[in-house]
Amino acid sequence: MAAAPFTSPIRIREIVDPRDPALSKAYRLLSRTFEKGERVDRREWVGSLQEGADGLLSDLAWHLIIAEDATQEVVGLVSGTYLGNVNVGVIGYLAISAEARALGLGSRMRGRLRRAFERDALRIAEAPLMAIVGEVSPSNPWLRKLSAREGVLLLDLPYHQPRLRDGDLPSPFTLYYEGIDRPRTRLPVSELRRILFAIWRRIYRIPRPLERPAFRLMMKALDGRRTIGAPARPATPASRKPR
Ligand SMILES: CC(C)(COP(=O)(O)OP(=O)(O)OC[C@H]1O[C@@H](n2cnc3c(N)ncnc32)[C@H](O)[C@@H]1OP(=O)(O)O)[C@@H](O)C(=O)NCCC(=O)NCCS
Repeated sequence: MAAAPFTSPIRIREIVDPRDPALSKAYRLLSRTFEKGERVDRREWVGSLQEGADGLLSDLAWHLIIAEDATQEVVGLVSGTYLGNVNVGVIGYLAISAEARALGLGSRMRGRLRRAFERDALRIAEAPLMAIVGEVSPSNPWLRKLSAREGVLLLDLPYHQPRLRDGDLPSPFTLYYEGIDRPRTRLPVSELRRILFAIWRRIYRIPRPLERPAFRLMMKALDGRRTIGAPARPATPASRKPR
């Protein structure tokens, strides 16, 4: 039997209190959506919320935004970190429950997170948000749509997310860079190295990224390059190949 269409009114809000009862519901949605090796522990979320609530964060902000239906069930979540030292917002998880998908909710949630990053940038860096960065599985169909967007760079390097648990392996992803203050066609490698280090060191809390082979591999892949980004466009119409 086909599932009933999802018609419940949706309320989107940010969780800021680590004692908010919706936190457990959001974590349950995360657990239903992502396998164990792909998801952080619940205590990471609680800890990040507590750091924010205690006023300990200065040039960093962590967000957990949820969508609740009329019964206060959590049907969507998006998480992400604003990194003030590089003025970039990094998307963490985006999950929409199966019955609420394909209705534009994912897009709305991503938009809410983007606006939160834009406010962070004005407050912390006192400048417009420079970019949004995200890790996407190479098999994710959304990647094609994203790559067609003006100013979005799919970075051609062997990007890896650090292993989240002992014994796991680092996971390969495609890293994208979406220029917000202005579209970019290339990114200086020096800037990207700082962003990668900030992601590993400050978001995944890896104490010494350079000691990790996967991080060293990324750095090595950037050696000798000055810029990185989309492949250069053909210079003349004659050299263009049919798609
Ligand atoms: C991917 C998913 C969140 C899409 O939710 P949805 O409500 O059906 O999505 P929509 O109808 O709004 O359409 C797709 C939107 O999702 C967002 N999206 C899809 N994949 C995304 C990704 N990997 N990272 C960030 N945003 C993504 C985009 O904002 C896209 O809209 P846009 O092209 O206008 O920007 C949902 O199918 C899901 O939860 N899948 C399982 C988990 C998952 O793969 N998450 C993404 C990786 S973290």
